[in-house]
Amino acid sequence: MLVSVLLLLVTLCAQGGNSEERDEAPRPGHVSVVIVGGTGDLAKKYLWQGFFQLYASQVSSGNSFSFYSGGLSPADKATPVFFEILKAVSCPKDVSKERCALLREQFLRLAEYRQLKTLEEYQDLSKHIQEQLQQEGLAEAGRLFYLSVPAFAYADIAEKINSSCRPTSGAWLRVVLEKPFGHDFRSAQVLSTQLGTSLKDEEMYRIDHYLGKQVVSKILPFRIENKKFLDPIWNKHHIERVEIVLKETLDVKGRIPFYDQYGVIRDVLQNHLTEVMTLLTMRLPMNLSSSEEVLQNKLQIFSSLLPVGKNQAVIGQYQEYKMQVQQELNMTKDHISITPTFAAVLAHIDEAQYEGVPILLTSGKMLDERVGYARILFKNDIFCLQNHNSVHCKPKQIVFHFGHGSLQYPAILVSKNLFKPASKDAEWKEVTEHTDVSVLGLPISDYYVQTPSEQREAYSELISHIFAGRKDSFISTENLLASWGMWTPLLSSITSSFPRIYPGGADNGDLLDVHLKGKEISYNSEVVIISNDPMGGTSANNFHVIQGKFRGADMVSAWAEELVERLAADLQEAAEEAVREGGVFHLALSGGSTPLALFHRLALHHFSFPWRDTHVWMVDERCVPMTQLESNFRNLHDNLLQHVRIPYYNIHPMPVQLNQRLCVEEDGGALQYEKEIGKLVNGSSFHFGLLGVGYDGHTASLFPGRKMDEHGESLVALTESPIKPHQRMSLTFSSINRARRVALLVMGKGKHELITQLSRVKENPEKYPVTGVKPSAGSLVWYVDYDALLG
Ligand code: BG6
Repeated sequence: MLVSVLLLLVTLCAQGGNSEERDEAPRPGHVSVVIVGGTGDLAKKYLWQGFFQLYASQVSSGNSFSFYSGGLSPADKATPVFFEILKAVSCPKDVSKERCALLREQFLRLAEYRQLKTLEEYQDLSKHIQEQLQQEGLAEAGRLFYLSVPAFAYADIAEKINSSCRPTSGAWLRVVLEKPFGHDFRSAQVLSTQLGTSLKDEEMYRIDHYLGKQVVSKILPFRIENKKFLDPIWNKHHIERVEIVLKETLDVKGRIPFYDQYGVIRDVLQNHLTEVMTLLTMRLPMNLSSSEEVLQNKLQIFSSLLPVGKNQAVIGQYQEYKMQVQQELNMTKDHISITPTFAAVLAHIDEAQYEGVPILLTSGKMLDERVGYARILFKNDIFCLQNHNSVHCKPKQIVFHFGHGSLQYPAILVSKNLFKPASKDAEWKEVTEHTDVSVLGLPISDYYVQTPSEQREAYSELISHIFAGRKDSFISTENLLASWGMWTPLLSSITSSFPRIYPGGADNGDLLDVHLKGKEISYNSEVVIISNDPMGGTSANNFHVIQGKFRGADMVSAWAEELVERLAADLQEAAEEAVREGGVFHLALSGGSTPLALFHRLALHHFSFPWRDTHVWMVDERCVPMTQLESNFRNLHDNLLQHVRIPYYNIHPMPVQLNQRLCVEEDGGALQYEKEIGKLVNGSSFHFGLLGVGYDGHTASLFPGRKMDEHGESLVALTESPIKPHQRMSLTFSSINRARRVALLVMGKGKHELITQLSRVKENPEKYPVTGVKPSAGSLVWYVDYDALLG
């Protein structure tokens, strides 16, 4: 049976902020706390600890408490789990061991697990609270429900609370909701309307835990305390840019059913980073404790934002994500997800004060370090001729460092070339003793550093605000909808955009660096896909892959990027299989511009490809020195080979230059290559040959107008091209058709006419050499992009 602990009646101490401005001044009495989903991850990690801290701080305040963990599981199953969680709570540093033991014991005695599934179970809970109040003669102060459950359950639970769990009159009801609050503007609106039928606006506390981070909640007070320094420089004339960054090292394994629906923009940018942006840029309120004024000033920023569209964002996805999705969602290997796990978005505020100032919001999973910060980088127009270490020459910046990173603690850092910030807040202290670290390009000793005197967990902080009825640290309906108003157009415009794939961690190198140009943002390195797609090939309206038949062989068709993705996957599968079976993979690659996209894709994802056991051969070569841009080998080298870890002796360029001359019959280059193939490749049968098709139907360097058996049994031959450079060396039909797999890659609108003709003609290698490609014992697959297929 529950025992309530009613201790000394002491006036409730203010929880910071001005109590006049609170929506309800707390009156002492009994408080029932119910966490619905109380044995879930969030509750386990943060919520019970936060409520324990609340209990510890309030135990002498005249309030009494009971704590319920609600859940769908029956009590006999969930109770032991719940108590294991509670046993892990810890006391603040300043509490003695003995007192801590006592508090924990009391807390455990006040806690109970209850199954909360049906309306009757909610009614029973309410009855139980009522009886307890009566038995112990307690006045009720309020009931706090924390919904730590998926958002789809909110409306139903809110209805049950409304119809059966409202407290006795005069006591408060507060219902706390965790994000996600919707998926876009419309769904957020629907959810708000649904909740509005059961709960009053002032009863809802939508949590954004960033608002509980000490550095984030200090942004406005800091701006006010340092107004006299900041006023002259907090504008477009002095601010170079604003960066709001949350970098994480972990992946989202285990959360994919949720994450794949949301992605990084909905998970982090729409809420945490947007809130920080508004705090940094909103007009300062006359009265900081006025939630209404703070809200109005925030809304003003939203209404001044320039539209954020496709050109204001870049997205990425860590490489392992695709496989994790396939595993966690039980999908086949064909399934791809384009949910971004990284995004960098550029916002601009259309107000005279900030006109043209780039505001960069960026976050990602599997990055090189875990750190969160907002940096205001100021323009520095001082040119230092000699002493570059002088403080005036260094970046001028203010960093709101939320945590982690090299610094490891929350802090506000002001570079010494700006000003020395005021230190009026007793809860903050100045750090003067520094370890040897740098923060965003400056050694720590070049900053004035302020940090909270006592570090507090964001959730614990917000729980104490909920208890105190402080609504200014929560997301109001208007704020929520305004934020979705900012993000929804961007989200719709990128629904079918392909994210750039990144390997994760330090290997990302400069792959995710962005370039801000005017109002637009792009990746700094244009390395990913070069396709014949006139739109630039970075996105597509439809990313599904079609499988079909073309000229009696298998055909895979998709938009350019997806097609390349698929070809690369098939190639990798063939490589792995060959290496598994025989320890080596022989790959013959052709030249020209079409395979470039594939080379780039392979170069980017080289980590998992068995390059060490791969031999690379040429399908054909132009008779030019290898150093020339026209050389197929040079092309292959520059775009692929130099980026992957392949042993030099596995690389086999065609010997087009012998005895200091190019492709002379007597020099026997073709024969030499054939012998090399015979020596190394089992049965002279390549595992995989990649071919293209020219506008005239040629493939490899086998051009129209020649008989198919012209080269007899030879595997390599010198040939002639109608266009320059005329002389070529090429694999012949004999060697091509010995391959175990042949891929014919055709991309771009320019090839549509040819594809149409090829779909109609019979086998006629003299007119259309490509029709002579018919592997005798292997398979042929056409990879044709939609532009080539549909025109
Ligand atoms: C959560 C997101 O809201 O914030 C997570 O759902 C993210 O994906 C987390 O990891 C980051 O919070 P913090 O406090 O670790 O920066």
